Amino acid sequence: MSVNKEIKRITTHVIQSMKERGEKIAMLTGYDYSMARILDEAGIDIVLVGDSASNVMAGHETTLPITLDQMIYHAASVVRAIKRSLVVVDLPFGSYQGSSRVALESAVRIMKEAGAHAVKMEGGAEIEASVRRILSAGVPVMGHLGLTPQSIYKFGTYSVRAKEEAEAGKLMEDALLLQEIGCFAIVVEKIPAELGKRVAENLLIPVIGIGAGGHVDGQVLVTHDMLGITKDFQPRFLRRYLDMFDMVQNAIQQYISDVKSSDFPNEKEQY
Ligand code: KIV
Repeated sequence: MSVNKEIKRITTHVIQSMKERGEKIAMLTGYDYSMARILDEAGIDIVLVGDSASNVMAGHETTLPITLDQMIYHAASVVRAIKRSLVVVDLPFGSYQGSSRVALESAVRIMKEAGAHAVKMEGGAEIEASVRRILSAGVPVMGHLGLTPQSIYKFGTYSVRAKEEAEAGKLMEDALLLQEIGCFAIVVEKIPAELGKRVAENLLIPVIGIGAGGHVDGQVLVTHDMLGITKDFQPRFLRRYLDMFDMVQNAIQQYISDVKSSDFPNEKEQY
């Protein structure tokens, strides 16, 4: 008897059907081959190659410095590990704002050179032309509204967005616009739970939240934050599933001690 080992891939259509049947979507970030393999084999629906790589992988204070070439390097490493999950890649700051031609070239590079399945872009009406042009080339686009870290110097802080009705109204308009022009999903970051609920109820496409409450269609976290690899970042929305910083540090200290005491390697660990 042959066992059917065929893996059903998560596509944007699968993501849409999950919204339609009320199944929550689980998304986490990934930046390298080894972690992406764990994410994929654990059954994550979407791996986001986020520009948060700028913070957690490269140690920058913001997401602004990461380049398109660096995003492609991270994305290609992730794609090589993935058998099932949908891989969405952030277009980095400066690679799509201002010129829809440049935006299309950036998206095409990510799809061709990394083998990504979709791109994510921050902003609403102000990036409409770029989103439209990328979509017209057949590249699926995920929107990103609310706290958009590429605009941190405009906002001034990482505090909760759209608490005032005017900003909430603009966010809803942008969400409806992104849906109308053809985005397959939208991330909403750090907005009141009540607004997250309203956006998810008003949109036919999936709305995935980070710090946007429990009534959206799915959740995303930065993997290094939820595993406790990052130590000092502790916003209210973050649930830590491990304290990996301490766990890894303990293991390394044990290794150092074993080497110094000549306990490692032992007889069985040599040829
Ligand atoms: O870059 C990133 O990790 C993100 C998530 C926070 C949504 O955009």
